[in-house]
Amino acid sequence: MVTKEKNESRPMTEEADFLKIKSVDHVHFYVGNAKHAMYYWWKAFGFKPIAYSGLETGNREFASYVLESGQARFVISAPYSPSSPIASHHMVHGDGVKMIALEVDDVEKAWKETTARGGKSAWAPREEKDDFGIYRTSAIYTYGETLHVFVDRADYKGVFAPTYKAIQYEAESTGLAAIDHMVGNVQLGKMNHWVNFYHQVMGFRQLLHFDDKDISTEYSALMSKVMQNGNGRVKFPINEPAEGKRKSQIEEYLDYYLTPGVQHIAIITGDIIKTIGELRKRGVEFLRVPDTYYEMLPDRVGKIKEDMKTIHELGILVDRDDEGYLLQIFTRPIQDRPTMFIEVIQRHGAQGFGKGNFKALFESIEAEQQKRGNL
Ligand code: FE2
Repeated sequence: MVTKEKNESRPMTEEADFLKIKSVDHVHFYVGNAKHAMYYWWKAFGFKPIAYSGLETGNREFASYVLESGQARFVISAPYSPSSPIASHHMVHGDGVKMIALEVDDVEKAWKETTARGGKSAWAPREEKDDFGIYRTSAIYTYGETLHVFVDRADYKGVFAPTYKAIQYEAESTGLAAIDHMVGNVQLGKMNHWVNFYHQVMGFRQLLHFDDKDISTEYSALMSKVMQNGNGRVKFPINEPAEGKRKSQIEEYLDYYLTPGVQHIAIITGDIIKTIGELRKRGVEFLRVPDTYYEMLPDRVGKIKEDMKTIHELGILVDRDDEGYLLQIFTRPIQDRPTMFIEVIQRHGAQGFGKGNFKALFESIEAEQQKRGNL
C-alpha cells in the first residue's frame, strides 16, 4: 500500500523567505554533566569532539564540548555554579535542547525582521571577538524556553566560537551525516499558533500535515504540521497532543519537560544498516515494533534494496510514498526523563516522515509509556 501524506506545499515568494537561512549551524544541549554527555555522543553515536570551552579556556561559567558527525554539529554544556542560567534550565527541564542555531548572512537583519514580525528577542545582535575573528549572533524565542540563535561565522576562522579551543579526539563514525528534521512538542491547541509563528515570524511554509486520524492508536493521538524554510534544508514538524482514551505521548513529554521543547532530532545516514548495526553494538537502545510488522512489510512497501531479514533483525522501519521509500528507527529517550529521543533516517527518494509507520511506532511508544506508569 502506498501511503500518501497530505502535501500542502505552496509556491513561495522571494519576500516570504526573508531570513535566507543557509542551514542548521548547531544544536545546543543543556545537560547536568557535559563530560558524560560528550562521551555518549562520542563513543555511542560516533560524533567527533572538536572543541572545548571551560575553566582552562577562560570560561568561568560553564563547561562545553562541540562534536560533529558529517554536517551535524552538537554543542553540549553544563554549568559550574547553581547561579548559572544553565543550572536553572537543567533543574526544570533535565537534559534537553536549549538552542537551535541557524546560519544566516546577516544576524542584525534576521533579528530585526523576526522581532518586527512579533518574535520575542532573547538577545540583540552581538559580536564576540578573539584572535580568530568576529563571531556574530542574535537570538529569539521559539516554543517553550527554546531559542533560535542566528549565527554569522563569515568573519570567524576559529574552531567554533570565542572561548572554544580545538581538541583532538579520535572518533569512529557511525555514518550519521546531517540533521534531517527537528520536531517540537507543544501544548494541546497550540500547534497552529506555532505553525503561524514559523510562517509569519520566520518565513517558513507548511509542507505537510497529519491529523489525529493519521496518528492515532487505540489509546492516544497527536496532530502534527511540518514547517520548512525557503531552501528546504530546515524542517521543523510541530506536534500537539489530541484527545484519546489515554495520555498522549506528547502529554507525557510535556509532563516531564514541563514546557514545550524539542521532542526528537532526526539524523540522516547514507547506510542505515551499517549505522544501526554500529549503534546497537555500542549500546544505543531502540524502540521495537512487533514481528507482525515485518510479515506485512513486503506487501506494504514492495521491493527495496536492503535485505528484509537484516531490516527485521535491526528493527528498522520502512515506508513508501509516491517519490520512493525511506528507512527509519527511533531510540528510546536518551536521558532519564522520557523526553527527547533520536531518529535515524535514510531516504531513497521519499521526502515524507514515515506516515505508514506511525501506528506501529506509536503502539510501541505506548507499550513503553505503560511500563513507566504514564499511559
Ligand atoms: Fe521524525
